[in-house]
Amino acid sequence: MSGEFKIQEKKLREIGFLEPYEEVEKIEMGEWKLSGQHYICVVKVYLSNNVVKKFILKCPWDVFGSDAVRAWVDRRVRLSKLIRQAGGNVPRTEKYDDGTLIQEFIEGVEIGRVGEEKYKSALERELKIYEKLGLSYADSTLSNFILTPEGKVYCVDLDFLESKENVLKKIERVQLSWEGMITLPTK
Ligand SMILES: Nc1ncnc2c1ncn2[C@@H]1O[C@H](COP(=O)(O)OP(=O)(O)OP(=O)(O)O)[C@@H](O)[C@H]1O
Ligand SMILES: [Mg+2]
Repeated sequence: MSGEFKIQEKKLREIGFLEPYEEVEKIEMGEWKLSGQHYICVVKVYLSNNVVKKFILKCPWDVFGSDAVRAWVDRRVRLSKLIRQAGGNVPRTEKYDDGTLIQEFIEGVEIGRVGEEKYKSALERELKIYEKLGLSYADSTLSNFILTPEGKVYCVDLDFLESKENVLKKIERVQLSWEGMITLPTK
């Protein structure tokens, strides 16, 4: 990622991540880091009332071509709205530019780092919401779910949320089994 990327206060206001009454004192951008599928960068916005708002920027490095990247951003923004409307816990997600999305930063710990008893029921609640929407989480990675201090589970990486139909197709293609996926237990 280019070091030239500079986050703009005006843009944060346009997408509603800053309220008109919030006065910005300083914006700090962390280092861009290469993660499993994205370049990510944490942004801290220091407000005059001593509040610090945290966001995270993400660009996919494994999606090629500007149209595909734009579609990637748009799909994730749409998915986050859909799930939030259905009462699911996903961070507010907006398009920052054609190749970058921006999310609220969720404070907490990846569920893979704590015992299952701490997150099981909260995760099941989220999976049930996906199920109702006809979606399934097609990955077994526990790094994409954050357990907050209040005991809520947030899905921060929507890349693996797919229609159940697609998930089934994928299982056929790569010969995986449901056991390898995060999914609701079969009754
Ligand atoms: N909105 C967020 N709030 C808090 N932490 C986040 C957020 N988004 C991502 N993270 C942290 O950054 C990590 C990587 O983000 P993400 O899952 O989107 O990228 P990735 O490329 O799929 O990486 P990984 O393979 O580690 O999952 C997450 O596992 C999580 O710990
Ligand atoms: Mg991930």
